[in-house]
Amino acid sequence: MQGALWPSLLLLLLVLQPSGSGRAEAGTMELSRILGDSVTFLLEIPAEQVRTVAWTVNATRSIVTVTAGTPPNVIVLDSSYEGRLRVPENNSLQITSLRMKDTGTYGAQITTASGISNRHFLLRMYKQVPEPTIVCDSVTCVKETCNYNLHCTVRDGGDNVTYSWTHTAGGAVVPNGSILHISLSPRDAHLNATCTAQNPVSNSSTTASAKGLCAAPASSLSYCHLKGIVLLLVLGALSAGIIAVHVLPGREQRRD
Ligand SMILES: *[C@@H]1O[C@H](CO)[C@@H](O)[C@H](O)[C@H]1NC(C)=O
Ligand SMILES: *[C@@H]1O[C@H](CO)[C@@H](O)[C@H](O)[C@H]1NC(C)=O
Ligand SMILES: *[C@@H]1O[C@H](CO)[C@@H](O)[C@H](O)[C@H]1NC(C)=O
Ligand SMILES: *[C@@H]1O[C@H](CO)[C@@H](O)[C@H](O)[C@H]1NC(C)=O
Ligand SMILES: *[C@@H]1O[C@H](CO)[C@@H](O)[C@H](O)[C@H]1NC(C)=O
Ligand SMILES: *[C@@H]1O[C@H](CO)[C@@H](O)[C@H](O)[C@H]1NC(C)=O
Repeated sequence: MQGALWPSLLLLLLVLQPSGSGRAEAGTMELSRILGDSVTFLLEIPAEQVRTVAWTVNATRSIVTVTAGTPPNVIVLDSSYEGRLRVPENNSLQITSLRMKDTGTYGAQITTASGISNRHFLLRMYKQVPEPTIVCDSVTCVKETCNYNLHCTVRDGGDNVTYSWTHTAGGAVVPNGSILHISLSPRDAHLNATCTAQNPVSNSSTTASAKGLCAAPASSLSYCHLKGIVLLLVLGALSAGIIAVHVLPGREQRRD
């Protein structure tokens, strides 16, 4: 008895496994697109079985109804999709010139000869990742070797951006998200580090050398300038003194 029950239970579980590439609840298919791109929601039902498809977004807004035929009869119900919808011959729905506001869950209610079924698609819109900027957070040198902390950021458009680093030097590299800790000998200090910013639809990179970014530590630079300025001031004071002591009294004597 038991010997026969287990295989049939297993078979039942296998049959109940959701099929297809859809994920999340009720087989919702997730799609990511970039601003201005287009998306096609595939129904995966033989076109000749489909009678009508009613499309909604976010469960409540009706956007279009499609009645099968050659060509299919397309009635756009939402003006924000006017001119942006296409219905390929297999009754799938294509949206072109995508906008950020098009993000949402799209539902298709499909009527066939044998009944009604539903499909769901979750569309996420992203912008192209802007080129990242690398800045020098800090540099500390012990003997000849310097430890650099570089920081990579993108301005706005930063939704779900992840960062990665590559570096050509053999030095110890500890990438931690947007921060790169790197220890370099003078021999390797000129080598480049590349930061790549990535979102689900695009990526963008910037390359720079740690030495260039963290240029000669600021304090020693201004110390050099300071020395020059002090020297000039001293020279200026000296010449003013010389003029006052030697030239001016002479003039006054001549006037007498
Ligand atoms: C439906 O049509 C689109 C566009 O012509 C095509 O890319 C897609 O493969 C078709 N899908 C099926 C299931 O026939
Ligand atoms: C669907 O809802 C989301 C969040 O509630 C909203 O951001 C999006 O713009 C809506 N999509 C449409 C097409 O109305
Ligand atoms: C960002 O990613 C998280 C986790 O992966 C996800 O829950 C969230 O919806 C994403 N945000 C956008 C705007 O796509
Ligand atoms: C990475 O950075 C975060 C915050 O900047 C810090 O809390 C974490 O400890 C760091 N991880 C490593 C492995 O350095
Ligand atoms: C570092 O990058 C700059 C600019 O991207 C490039 O001109 C230079 O050749 C690179 N240097 C090395 C050592 O790769
Ligand atoms: C960055 O995008 C290009 C296509 O634009 C792709 O070939 C490459 O694999 C992407 N790189 C990463 C690290 O995702």
